[in-house]
Amino acid sequence: MPEKRILLKNCGIIDPRDINAYVAHDGFKAWEKARHALTPDEVVAEIDTSGLRGRGGAGFPCGLKWKLARQEAADEKFLICNADEGEVGAFKDRHLLQHDPFSLIEGIAIAAYAIGAQKAYIYLRAEYHYLSAGLKNAIDQTRQKGCLEELNITIQEGAGAYICGEESALMDSIEGKRGEARFRPPFPPSQGLWGKPTIINNVETLANIPPIILNGSQWFREIGTAQSKGTKLFSVSGDVAKPGVYELALGSPLKELVVDLAGAQDIKMVQVGGATGGIIPASMITTPLAYETVLGSGAVTVFDASREVLDFVYRTMEFLAEESCGKCTPCREGTEAMMEIIGRLTTGDGKQEDIQAIEDLSQTMMLSSLCGLGQAASIPVLDTLKYFRNDYENRIRQSVFLRSLRGQL
Ligand SMILES: Cc1cc2nc3c(=O)[nH]c(=O)nc-3n(C[C@H](O)[C@H](O)[C@H](O)COP(=O)(O)O)c2cc1C
Repeated sequence: MPEKRILLKNCGIIDPRDINAYVAHDGFKAWEKARHALTPDEVVAEIDTSGLRGRGGAGFPCGLKWKLARQEAADEKFLICNADEGEVGAFKDRHLLQHDPFSLIEGIAIAAYAIGAQKAYIYLRAEYHYLSAGLKNAIDQTRQKGCLEELNITIQEGAGAYICGEESALMDSIEGKRGEARFRPPFPPSQGLWGKPTIINNVETLANIPPIILNGSQWFREIGTAQSKGTKLFSVSGDVAKPGVYELALGSPLKELVVDLAGAQDIKMVQVGGATGGIIPASMITTPLAYETVLGSGAVTVFDASREVLDFVYRTMEFLAEESCGKCTPCREGTEAMMEIIGRLTTGDGKQEDIQAIEDLSQTMMLSSLCGLGQAASIPVLDTLKYFRNDYENRIRQSVFLRSLRGQL
């Protein structure tokens, strides 16, 4: 089945610097409809009925989040567009920011109207600095056209840290602090940025708002699966012939994405969802891409048969240990300890007990870490243990053999 291009329909087709090109392709029609034919509550209800779930990784229902912020009585509310995109292998938000910034600005304008926010931030990944001028141009042209009314949009460049994509650390970063995960509750829709009700949505989530408002929630509900509505952008990289950004209806088989579209061959495994994403072995390549099965942010990395599972797991854990904000002990110490154990296995010093230690440590980190980084850090380890246990066992056998040789010398 070919791609289903809803979010990518303008990419490569229209000039992203010119609002007239966007308007000529139905641009701002959804904003007109929301602003002149619907009340804010009706906009929230439409998004709620559509079943849209957050595209930043966690998949939280967007309408429910908006409803919570909408019902808060506050003198000030904020909307934050999370454009930090620090996930390993993720570059789908960059594609939208670069090739269709007006769709995002239209989504932001509608979202702010719906929840009653007067100020919006686009938290832009530091490495995407070069996209800032294009975004600013899109904001300025939208303002001149009168589609932003009183809404003030600020582009805030990120702090260059993976953790600053996590919503509570992101708010700390905007507030001028060092980005660290916050204790929750309170949750952002009631107390977020500077203690005010705040909605944080991913770039792709917000880009979905104009087509849903324009075509209606029922149209959107017809695409996807029972719990995963609409399409999803995937950034595919690794051992593939055609890396890039693809858009598929949710529920499409992984094989369609990585083999039929991206041209992968001789697959060993695929990681879906970035550094903390699930591992799918080649034998399960028809797994549907959906929140019910495996999804996350949409970063998809393919590993072919030449790749060593344990080397990959070690590098992943090294990254997570480096990027842990250090605020909570299970994540700060757990990622370091996990790296040490896996390091032992890769350098020929592993022991049989190490597997049990990995499993115990994973449980502790999952149950007691403060945010998604520590909670999900062990997913790639546990998944590879499940599907590639032989790789672990072989390394341990080699270690035992090497130790016995050393003992003989
Ligand atoms: C360590 C970590 C990094 C994250 N990085 C991002 C990111 O770069 N972009 C993003 O949209 N969400 C990221 N998230 C998820 C956000 O915390 C949050 O769930 C999301 O921005 C909410 O928007 P959504 O509901 O539209 O998905 C990250 C989460 C964690 C735990």
